[in-house]
Amino acid sequence: MSDLIDAVRQGADGRTLAACPLPEAYRAIHLRRQDERLFDGESERDVRRTLHLGDVPMPEIAPDEVLVAVMASAVNYNTVWSAMYHPISGFRFLQQFGRQGGWAARHDRDYQVIGSDAAGVVVRVGSAVRHWTPGDHVVVNPPYIDEQDPAAQQDGMLTNSMLAWGFEINFGAFGEFCVVRASQLLRKPAHLSWAEAACNTLCLGTAYRMLISDRGARIKMGDIVLVWGAAGGLGAYAVQLVRQAGGMAVGTVSSPDKVELLERLGCHLVVDRNEVGMHEGAAGSSSSWKALGSIIRRRLGEDPHVAFEHVGQATFDTSVNVIRRGGAVVTCGSSSGYQHHYDNRYLWMKLKRVIGSHGANIQEAWEANRLLNLGLVVPTLSTVYRFEETPEATRSVQLNQHEGKVGLLVLADDDEQGIEDRDLRERVGEDRLRLFREHAGAKVPTA
Ligand SMILES: NC(=O)c1ccc[n+]([C@@H]2O[C@H](COP(=O)([O-])OP(=O)(O)OC[C@H]3O[C@@H](n4cnc5c(N)ncnc54)[C@H](OP(=O)(O)O)[C@@H]3O)[C@@H](O)[C@H]2O)c1
Repeated sequence: MSDLIDAVRQGADGRTLAACPLPEAYRAIHLRRQDERLFDGESERDVRRTLHLGDVPMPEIAPDEVLVAVMASAVNYNTVWSAMYHPISGFRFLQQFGRQGGWAARHDRDYQVIGSDAAGVVVRVGSAVRHWTPGDHVVVNPPYIDEQDPAAQQDGMLTNSMLAWGFEINFGAFGEFCVVRASQLLRKPAHLSWAEAACNTLCLGTAYRMLISDRGARIKMGDIVLVWGAAGGLGAYAVQLVRQAGGMAVGTVSSPDKVELLERLGCHLVVDRNEVGMHEGAAGSSSSWKALGSIIRRRLGEDPHVAFEHVGQATFDTSVNVIRRGGAVVTCGSSSGYQHHYDNRYLWMKLKRVIGSHGANIQEAWEANRLLNLGLVVPTLSTVYRFEETPEATRSVQLNQHEGKVGLLVLADDDEQGIEDRDLRERVGEDRLRLFREHAGAKVPTA
């Protein structure tokens, strides 16, 4: 282990960290270009086969970049896409990015360190970095945005060159170190442990933009929002945002044991999708959406204003149908298939809208992070794995065996380490902060 990692683990100050030499290599969970065709002709794409743990060389940082020692990370669904090499191989993104030349060329390697959520300690800053110094405790917003693109003045997510860090580019969160642009950083909430802080930014920011931001559905007090996968990565933040905005969340789940969890999180109504014929592999049908619609109408008296979509093919037509006249489907993904079929008459005749959304610009991510700092939103960390167990952790998400967020301890020793403000933590409430872990109960395999 390097002196720098020792110093980070001991909580050394910024000056000490800056004086420690950088190791030439670091441990990382990475994908290999040679595995690109591994799953060809196979029906099962088991992510454990492509996620490798090993040393990778330390990259040089660009003037506007920061090197962060990663204390904890979390699995996102994009980790699953990356490790399946599906629908396309991430090495295609790296190649395309590398062609830009200059600093981008560093990213096109025969390995990719993936991972798009991290909490850690700044250990180096580039010569053009202004707001961060070694020793700062940070979390990372994944969009890698070129601030010199004019569109960034309006909305970084509209820049043509926007790329998802640890998915479309290299040096992501699944390593002892990661490389990010300074403009991706946010202060780590002081009342959270490293693992609790690492699991929020991608999913919470995405849900914030979809529901609250001017670019999303802009929900208001009293709005009824149908949240698919309400106990999942995105959904459990969506439920909290709806609740805090004064709306009413209707959450869907696939097992009865998630119902109580979601009621405690703030759902007004939880529907087991199996009970309306929307079990795994089922294609949406008119009987399903009518059954779901009638449950919502019976229990809440009205149809939803908004459907929070990320499931895609299996649910999209239900979302379009079940929302009220003038309502909106806001979508950021298509886990079950990206070719959606729905009857467009129900959209235009009832003046409904579909809103495409992706990630969160840094200002939206900052607003979402502020909600964590205020204790209005809490992390949904359910299960915490050791770094070496990343393939198993990712597999659990691939098989939909998880709830909320699945955390990874990288340099942190356990899921308690990193809490700085105990008073704030007490005010927010340990029971809320540990809700998903308590629910996961004996399943928590901490280090
Ligand atoms: N564009 C972006 O910026 C962005 C950001 C984050 C995520 N995403 C995408 O959004 C998707 C979801 O991400 P996530 O992190 O929330 O994943 P996740 O943690 O796996 O949660 C997804 C949830 O969807 C539910 N689900 C699965 N299959 C379903 C089906 N056939 N019908 C209805 N519900 C189903 C599951 O809940 P139940 O089984 O309990 O129903 C599951 O908890 C992924 O495709 C991801 O790539 C996009």
